[in-house]
Amino acid sequence: MSRKAANIISAQVIMKPDAVLGLATGGTPVGTYAQLVEWYRKGDIDFSEVTTVNLDEYRGLAKEHRQSYWYFMHTHLFNHVNICPERIFMPDGSNPDKIKVCKEYDRIIKNVGGIDLQLLGIGTDGHIGFNEPGGAFELGTHCVDLTESTIEANARFFDCREEVPRQAYTMGIRTIMQARKVLMIASGEKKKKIIKEAFFGAVTPAVPASILQMHPDFTLIGDAGALAEIDL
Ligand code: PGA
Repeated sequence: MSRKAANIISAQVIMKPDAVLGLATGGTPVGTYAQLVEWYRKGDIDFSEVTTVNLDEYRGLAKEHRQSYWYFMHTHLFNHVNICPERIFMPDGSNPDKIKVCKEYDRIIKNVGGIDLQLLGIGTDGHIGFNEPGGAFELGTHCVDLTESTIEANARFFDCREEVPRQAYTMGIRTIMQARKVLMIASGEKKKKIIKEAFFGAVTPAVPASILQMHPDFTLIGDAGALAEIDL
């Protein structure tokens, strides 16, 4: 799964060296980033002209916090490849001014020319980025209250549950749908129910990822566990 996803991302960068990559955090993309780093070290891929815009960031965490997504992305990818620091963008989690942060992030995405390829994971409740069930499809970047299930799922990365931030800034579904290509990766049996529901069920805000059925260039890569309920 990781290698196939890294292949598609590499192809995007080779075809368009100044591509804008929308990137994701979480457990799922770690292997994909490791593969990209390996190919970079071999000289197969060059990030010098690439721009990145990440999906989301916790509100209230400084960049330096070990659980910030800024820190995650630097640890798993940015510190190991030749990406220009000034072309790395993420919502500013350290700024509590919601309106300012969200407006600024939408402006950045527009200024870089939109997203060529957006990488996504999926939550067991169908969330993409931090777009939780029930949110509106037409939103740009916004601030969200995390659901209990997301706080629970992310608590494994913190010392205790109480440390998990309660809010995050996230690209909206509208922003994600405007990406020219969307690539989702999903791993493990715990995702099999939601994968079936999201891509073979109704398109509904109750399952945010289901809107991707409408995207003109959407690819899902899953391992055997995640695809176990799909009858191909
Ligand atoms: P995971 O998270 O990759 O850690 O399973 C995916 C997500 O919540 O989007």
